[in-house]
Amino acid sequence: MNQAADDTTAARAQSLRAQLQAASYAYYVLDAPDLPDEVYDRLYRELQDLETAHPALVTPDSPTQRVGEKPATQFTSVRHNIPLYSLENAFDLAEFRAWEERWRRQAPDAGEVEYVAELKIDGNALALTYENGLLVRGVTRGDGVAGEDITPNVRTIRSVPLRLNTDTPPPVVEVRGEAFLPLDVFEQINREREARGEALFANPRNAAAGTLRQLDSRIVADRRLDFFAYTVYLDQFDPAQIASAPDQMTTQWAALELLQTLGFRVNPNRQLCQSADDVQAYYDDWATKRARLSYLTDGVVVKLNDFALQRQLGFTQKFPRWAVALKYPAEEVPTILEAVSFQVGRTGAVTPVAELHPVQLAGTTVARATLHNADRLAELDIHQGDTVIVRKAGEIIPEVVRVLSELRPVDAIVVTMPTHCPQCASALVKPEGEAVTRCINSSCPAIVQGAIIHWARRDALDIEGLGEKWVKQLVEQGLVHSVADLYTLTEADLEPLDRMGKRLAEKLVGAIAASKTRPWASVLYALGIRHVGTVNAKTLAQHFPSAAALAAASPEAIATVHSIGPEIAQSVAQWFEVPANQTLIDRLRQSGLQLAADDTPTQAAEAGVLAGKTLVLTGTLPTLTRPEATELIEAAGGKVTSSVSKATDYLVAGEKAGSKLTKAEGLGIAILSEGDLLALIGQD
Ligand code: IVH
Repeated sequence: MNQAADDTTAARAQSLRAQLQAASYAYYVLDAPDLPDEVYDRLYRELQDLETAHPALVTPDSPTQRVGEKPATQFTSVRHNIPLYSLENAFDLAEFRAWEERWRRQAPDAGEVEYVAELKIDGNALALTYENGLLVRGVTRGDGVAGEDITPNVRTIRSVPLRLNTDTPPPVVEVRGEAFLPLDVFEQINREREARGEALFANPRNAAAGTLRQLDSRIVADRRLDFFAYTVYLDQFDPAQIASAPDQMTTQWAALELLQTLGFRVNPNRQLCQSADDVQAYYDDWATKRARLSYLTDGVVVKLNDFALQRQLGFTQKFPRWAVALKYPAEEVPTILEAVSFQVGRTGAVTPVAELHPVQLAGTTVARATLHNADRLAELDIHQGDTVIVRKAGEIIPEVVRVLSELRPVDAIVVTMPTHCPQCASALVKPEGEAVTRCINSSCPAIVQGAIIHWARRDALDIEGLGEKWVKQLVEQGLVHSVADLYTLTEADLEPLDRMGKRLAEKLVGAIAASKTRPWASVLYALGIRHVGTVNAKTLAQHFPSAAALAAASPEAIATVHSIGPEIAQSVAQWFEVPANQTLIDRLRQSGLQLAADDTPTQAAEAGVLAGKTLVLTGTLPTLTRPEATELIEAAGGKVTSSVSKATDYLVAGEKAGSKLTKAEGLGIAILSEGDLLALIGQD
């Protein structure tokens, strides 16, 4: 039905929109719901029905327009009219006082000043543009100069108004603030990722970044992103007026109030301070109180309140001189080590994990912490029952940093690396000079389980429904010893599994059968050969059109392929030499899997999102090796260089990032985690 709406219908739609908007504002911005959920839902459905019957009634600010759109293929890069600067860090109060002295030398006549102290929200900066009061664009910070246009995603954030709350909107307003994920949502996302065998987001900031860059805004709509506004530019096209505003808005404090009036959520925990001492008291106060917030803060942002003084001080290359981020130290807490468990991963790597008496740390409950590897374990000289210090420095997986050996119980037993695999009892190996201890029994249940979960991944054989809980049972009950066994499973085999039943068994057998049509490149990736990620697998599959061709190739021949280095080539050739692997390939071929390319020519690589960008890698990334990361970056059109300079666009930093990180921070270069990188190139 698509009829012209009569006046009464139009008026009803208008009234519904107004009611729903007011209710949503009360709920999401004021945090003070004033309409029962059922009533909201009923009104919402009524509006939806009216709009379906009369599409002409849909307005861009209708509450029905927040549910997300069809997935985008990629985001476009947009240059910011005013760059998004980052903030200079002060790591303690002494550094904060030094910052004050520095700006005072530049403005010796400033006298007594006011500061605005705001919580530093651990999220991602966004720039929102409103034209004639309507939200028209939402752009990520990007590298500060240009970001990505993610408008459909921004529209799903309930606390971002689609229309400014004013009858006299200026032609253009730009609002900036922090998009973030509440801690409970962050933890829920990670629980889901863990269950699917996917890499965890290191912290809420990465999770928010990954969510904001989701190409499918319907997924974003489910994720409950939130937004605090902290900057408003009323005349964004005149950079000379960066910190300017009409007469009534000459201070940051007034700007925050204006933002609130316009309908934005502004963090209520801000404070107008009359001196550096006041700021110090605020910082001390929130050092403990921040643990009770539902979102993560990593410090306090201190801004000079007066815009005239801000203008006088201006900016350095990277930072405003009138603001500073006063950070809180990474949290550390003591707790008791209850046990050490040894986890065996898909590659056979054995990781010691501390099982702890649960403690609160940086907003979440911590009951486990990594002990990294055998060397670290020996270095810590950790004993059963030890009191240990755990730390979470922005990373979600906490680590044991120290042992308080003076508190050690008498006769406590030292914890050492096992000599045999805790899963299959075969002897472990630790190659000379390597940190990793490994189980090398390819039929070890832990390795088989990991291999099957990897096999079923969406970017591998894409077997829907084959999650961790089924894989575990299949392996434990001896139904599956290798991925090839999946293809002989029958409904009768599956049905007896705990909570499976006939319908699920049928579906799963169907999904496994369907995976036989996945292309050769996906099968190659799914085999889990070291250094062969999705991108290398694609490249190899293009040059070696069948498993037989690849198996027959020498390491030298493999290494002639562009972007395949000797290390990768060696690893591939070695894999095909192992008799058990040859048997596996034969069985897969007999089961009808695609072990050769079909005749359709491969699509030309899409124009990469990193085209023209220079990246530097540093530190240990949580899941990718250097070659894998390099390969992914190059496949997305980017270039990887070894040292940080002004020409660097992004630094991808992992654990134990050192001087490159410091240098990049100094140069104001955008820092990406592995999660950020993967999100950026759409591989998350
Ligand atoms: S003001 C030039 N205020 O921290 C002014 N930033 O480390 C720059 N942030 O990129 C931003 N809470 O993403 C400001 N209340 C707050 C903030 C805040 C979080 C983030 C923001 C910025 C980063 C700098």
